[in-house]
Amino acid sequence: MIKAFILAGGKGARLRPLTLHTPKPIVPLANIPFLFFQIDRIKRAKITEIILSLSYQPRKIKDIFGDGMNYGVTMRYTHEDLPRGTAGALKGGEHLIDDTTVAMNGDVLTDTDLREVIQYHKSNKAEATIVLARVMNPTGYGLVEADSHGRVVRFTEKPAEDEVTGDTINAGIYVLERSILNRISPDGPQSFERDVFPQLLQDGARFYAYLNRGYWQDIGSPSKYLEAHYGIISGRMKLPAYPHRASAPIRWNKNEVQIDSYSMLESKCVIKPGVTIENSVLGEECRIEEGALIKDSVIWSGTRVRSNARVERAIIGRQCHIGEGARIRPGSVLGDKTLVCDYSIV
Ligand code: GDD
Ligand code: MG
Repeated sequence: MIKAFILAGGKGARLRPLTLHTPKPIVPLANIPFLFFQIDRIKRAKITEIILSLSYQPRKIKDIFGDGMNYGVTMRYTHEDLPRGTAGALKGGEHLIDDTTVAMNGDVLTDTDLREVIQYHKSNKAEATIVLARVMNPTGYGLVEADSHGRVVRFTEKPAEDEVTGDTINAGIYVLERSILNRISPDGPQSFERDVFPQLLQDGARFYAYLNRGYWQDIGSPSKYLEAHYGIISGRMKLPAYPHRASAPIRWNKNEVQIDSYSMLESKCVIKPGVTIENSVLGEECRIEEGALIKDSVIWSGTRVRSNARVERAIIGRQCHIGEGARIRPGSVLGDKTLVCDYSIV
């Protein structure tokens, strides 16, 4: 049976301080634990067996997804005390894999039709198929070149500026035959990007690329995490139906606040008169006080923004306190429980 394998063991270092208390796979995106977006993608491809490969703060992730029943899937877990690398992680789940596997990075947001990718993989009789996305600057990614038949001819992880020869990158989604496991050594860390894919190329194996023409965005850094939110609130990426949404009302007087139609507010928020909210996402039980401005920002649950404060293009963690008249300037990332004094500029 085709199963999905999600790599969810990274530390999320580039998203610190957000990931100090929340591992990257369950960082909220539009107030939904991120992995749910991938579970939704996988379910749409009629795959219901999912293996989550964990390493960093596994308990918090298991507490949310459990055996998967509440999400309509069967969830199994593998766990590494020390990270084994992306391919090493799959090797660690070998006993759970019996057929073709869809492997995914745990931090990519996409509307790729996985069924189509699997069909493409099968029709090419490929050993491995990699989904590609187009980006402006490939240096932070795995640069992939394919020939006119779709065969991968070059894979360069994190290329230097002068190695960039194209704009298609590894989208972090692979369809793999079980034989791939024979290419991964059981000892020491192994990576798809630096070990397995170069080996496939060297051996002339049937290694294909599928170009994703839909939405694709990784959430691995603060600016990309914000970008993913903009993708959702602008409607470019559809929101899946999350089964556990709270539905208590928001407390506001609609005539006394200005909230644009892009912004998303979660239940139990309190919005005081004179507040402006544009292009932003607020978690549950936030309290935004008189005259405050929230623009192009993401605020996690339980945060209080005092009167006349301004928050622009920032990410603010849970239960923070932003003092009266304070300014949180573009690019700021505040971890959970940050206290910003009145009139401070961050
Ligand atoms: N279980 C486990 N063990 N998971 C891991 C490990 C590990 O040792 N190392 C990384 N991961 C998980 C991360 O949690 C993440 O979901 C995924 O594997 C990729 O790791 P990142 O650390 O996020 O890699 P990256 O963003 O620098 O690059 C990767 O993703 C790009 C697309 O976003 C590469 O696959 C690039 O080639 C790709 O373009
Ligand atoms: Mg990443």
